[in-house]
Amino acid sequence: MSKKIVILTGAGISAESGIPTFRDSGGLWENEPVQLVATPEGFESDPERVINFYNKRREALKNAEPNAAHHALVQLEEKFGDDFLLITQNVDDLHQRAGNKRVIAMHGELLKVRCLGSQEHVFHCTEDQPEKCPECGAKMRPHIVWFGEIPFEMDRIQKALAKCDLFAYIGTSGAVYPAAGFRQLAKLSGAHVVCLNLEEISGGYTDEFIKGKASEVVPKWVEEV
Ligand code: OAD
Repeated sequence: MSKKIVILTGAGISAESGIPTFRDSGGLWENEPVQLVATPEGFESDPERVINFYNKRREALKNAEPNAAHHALVQLEEKFGDDFLLITQNVDDLHQRAGNKRVIAMHGELLKVRCLGSQEHVFHCTEDQPEKCPECGAKMRPHIVWFGEIPFEMDRIQKALAKCDLFAYIGTSGAVYPAAGFRQLAKLSGAHVVCLNLEEISGGYTDEFIKGKASEVVPKWVEEV
């Protein structure tokens, strides 16, 4: 039987591509109160502030390129094919641009917007968010999962975690559920659990900690898998 691998990535994997993380010093949540820009309530009370926040992040993404850690995960996917799944909490498109195909963007995608009238009206968007839905004229919102909303594709994620032999979480602080609980689900299903990060993450359910910058430790680790 072949080995099944699930990877979870967070903001740390894109840090060296120039995209700020959330909770490190100088991180996004230091400058923008999370409850104002990343909750449905924040959007309801000040939609312009929220739309501007994501417009700016979309603009900044144009100057970012995938780094060695993103590229290494493409090699891992090429090696393992359908036995590989990459779950990312990141809303940037750096995994997809590097070439990963089996990706679940559980917290949504910065380069998509959707209409408030229909879940099916989702559009690719590389510039500022359009004011009205091109299909039905309703108001639009970023295609981002905010606090208090259910992440995308949880069914598929849970099934993959229950079946995996190796689970690695990379560049994530483990502060936000449900993603923070994935290592527990994988460990209890019998997987070997590896953490690659600048800092050790407390809370257990980790067999191996590999300390270092993602661009350095991920390519080395991928060679060994
Ligand atoms: P955080 O900002 O909470 O954590 C980033 C982690 O990456 C920290 O543990 C850092 O030590 C580590 N790190 C920083 N630079 C690194 C590097 N070069 N190499 C390796 N590790 C590095 O970001 P996330 O855990 O991704 O959700 O945050 C999870 C969610 O919280 C985000 O998806 C977002 C946020 O609120 C939503 O917006 C819904």
